[in-house]
Amino acid sequence: MSTPREVTLIPGDGIGPAITDATLRLLDAAGAEFRWDRQLAGMAAVTDHGDPLPEATLDSIRRTKLALKGPLETPVGKGFRSINVALRKEFDLYANLRPAKTVLTNTRFENVDIILVRENTEGLYVGAESYIKVGNDPQAVAQSVAVITRGGAERIVRYAFEYALKHGRKRVTVVHKANILKYSQGLFLEMGRKVAAEYAGRIASDDKIVDACAMELVMKPEKYDVIVTTNLFGDILSDLTSGLVGGLGLTPGANIGYDCGIFEAVHGTAPDIAGKGIANPTAVMLAACQLLDHVGDVPRADRIRAAIGATLRERKVVTGDVGGTATTDQYTDAVIARLKS
Ligand code: NAI
Repeated sequence: MSTPREVTLIPGDGIGPAITDATLRLLDAAGAEFRWDRQLAGMAAVTDHGDPLPEATLDSIRRTKLALKGPLETPVGKGFRSINVALRKEFDLYANLRPAKTVLTNTRFENVDIILVRENTEGLYVGAESYIKVGNDPQAVAQSVAVITRGGAERIVRYAFEYALKHGRKRVTVVHKANILKYSQGLFLEMGRKVAAEYAGRIASDDKIVDACAMELVMKPEKYDVIVTTNLFGDILSDLTSGLVGGLGLTPGANIGYDCGIFEAVHGTAPDIAGKGIANPTAVMLAACQLLDHVGDVPRADRIRAAIGATLRERKVVTGDVGGTATTDQYTDAVIARLKS
């Protein structure tokens, strides 16, 4: 037996601990060789350490270079900045890979298989926000600056094309809003076209304005293969693509840098169902499969994905968000039983 790979585990807030526990149970049943270093972040860390991102958590990821993460609560409009954004910055996790693939049958679309590659460190998420005082009102004007760099645009587009080559994909679509945001989005599109030209003859490419892309995605999602786009558009479009295949409960996301990867669900802490034992753990389970892919254990990831797919398609023991009545634990047991059958 090989030495288990150490991975930082951040259970997270809300439904996080329940769905990460379920995922660990499944990984154990599949014989995955990981040693977990449990660490806190988000509200759970504020409660315990008075710090939403303790140094011990950062040190652990610096050492392991890998983390499986539950969702973290971020106060809206005030309070500390998003820990997810901070982690992406700290480890330069510039590529956010969000696949959306049809698993359930009898949904609106049967053949969706989209890889959305979102730039994860730039754009409107750089945190360059300020107020301007006008008269007596100190917050009369609010501004948020979008930053696109030539280097940042080039590396994310290249990542998308390299991903397409490695995984037998046919087309990469560069999604932008360069018609209006001629500088920032214009630079992204310029770099998109430059990199696309290098792959001509190997990977087809096109570009689409984000609003037209959103419309097409809900009408003809089968047309799309790999999409690469800037941070905010990627955030929004990836929720859209997860809606095409059955909702947030089913969509994982990998945050990848040069030497570090953090794997998580696309969804948040689901405060409305936290503590009820009914959350769908599939997205984190599929994120764990992305982790397995990342460390080269693709056959085990494929076995787990097949067990999840079969359980979901059968629709006998599935959670409420996908039309069933099963609890998180019952669903997890059903996936494990499939894995072993
Ligand atoms: P959300 O994704 O937590 O919930 C949206 C809706 O989807 C809710 O109705 C929820 O019940 C449902 N849902 C989400 N995941 C589910 C699952 N696994 N099973 C069944 N139903 C599920 O989004 P919301 O409410 O906007 O955000 C709540 C909190 O999560 C906020 O503090 C937000 O900042 C944080 N968040 C954290 C993320 C992360 O850590 N990666 C990502 C997105 C949001």
